[in-house]
Amino acid sequence: MILVTGGAGFIGANFVLDWLAGSDEPVLNLDALTYAGNLESLASLTGDARHVFVKGDIGDRALLDRLFAEHRPRAVVHFAAESHVDRSIHGPAAFIKTNVEGTFTLLEATRSFWSALDAPAKAAFRFHHVSTDEVYGSLSKTDAPFTETDTYEPNSPYSASKAASDHLVRAWHHTYGLPVVTTNCSNNYGPYHFPEKLIPLMIVNALAGKPLPVYGDGQQVRDWLYVKDHASAIRAVLAGGRPGEVYNIGGWNEKPNIEIVHTVCALLDEMRPDPAGSYSRLITYVTDRPGHDRRYAIDARKVERELGWRPAETFDTGIRKTVRWYLDNAGWVEHVQSGAYREWVDTNYSARAA
Ligand code: NAD
Ligand code: TYD
Repeated sequence: MILVTGGAGFIGANFVLDWLAGSDEPVLNLDALTYAGNLESLASLTGDARHVFVKGDIGDRALLDRLFAEHRPRAVVHFAAESHVDRSIHGPAAFIKTNVEGTFTLLEATRSFWSALDAPAKAAFRFHHVSTDEVYGSLSKTDAPFTETDTYEPNSPYSASKAASDHLVRAWHHTYGLPVVTTNCSNNYGPYHFPEKLIPLMIVNALAGKPLPVYGDGQQVRDWLYVKDHASAIRAVLAGGRPGEVYNIGGWNEKPNIEIVHTVCALLDEMRPDPAGSYSRLITYVTDRPGHDRRYAIDARKVERELGWRPAETFDTGIRKTVRWYLDNAGWVEHVQSGAYREWVDTNYSARAA
């Protein structure tokens, strides 16, 4: 079996669903169920013996040792993290705790288990660390996209904590020989995305007739990848990636935020017309994010050259599926908008003058 951490979050849940749709190899899913973890995203696996869920923290060494001893996974796929830049600005401590200390504890528990394996099992074992393009910093309009050898220049507490975890993973390979692979991926979007992030927030707010808050001038550029394409990239790297190597994963879809918001509005206008006119009337420019990175872009040629991976979705096909999914899953959306969610919306948006 494989041990997945953070498998009740956005990308982790999509990965687990994708994995079990294509394989009978069981998944041990360790997730602390923070505000971002949601077992409802995995409801279709209820009663499926291939999915073993454990509620717990990656910083809990005793729990990790017990899980390794009981389940003897052949690989770890590490998603668990605090993942939202704006939250990292309001409260960085949780990012250091989970992303840095938690990854350290997970690496140590993995190393302890891995060290005792026989030589073939040791060689076949993988620790797959899921990271972000944000560790490379911010690009200007004319800079070349990030490659795997670019220097690390993280700018937010989130990206700094992910950069630190990447360095730990690298060192555990270099020093102890742990067979690690790291993927640095661009912005994901798709089903089960928590509506604190740009695309689901815009869909959810538009449907509720609420303002669509665009930070600054809306000209910041991100590279967008449909989440199921990220899952297929991780499968490819886990199966064929070379230990110690880093692979950049991206969608070849660079877009300014304001264009994303207009696209979401146009799709909603088509699929669920707003009697008051176009949803784009709700677009509201608000105070920018402090230290806002201007542009991220991924050069994903290495993973294509070595492993033959390319995204299956274009932005047009992926965003259409995503908007459709949110319209068809109003129950999921309603349940994640709990009291804690409303408190976050207050914290993040009330001080941003329109
Ligand atoms: P998410 O916030 O939706 O999910 C994170 C999950 O980790 C949640 O289920 C949460 O309960 C769990 N978790 C948090 N702290 C934990 C802890 N201490 N122990 C165990 N579980 C814990 O995040 P996501 O968007 O699914 O991102 C997953 C991974 O992918 C992260 O490592 C993130 O840095 C990386 N990543 C995300 C994106 C993106 O666009 N979302 C892009 C590139 C890389
Ligand atoms: P986000 O989804 O938080 O991802 P990240 O910061 O990791 O790239 O934000 C994507 C972009 O959208 C980013 O440039 C910030 C911007 N943004 C807004 O303009 N308004 C919002 O309400 C949010 C949440 C993000």
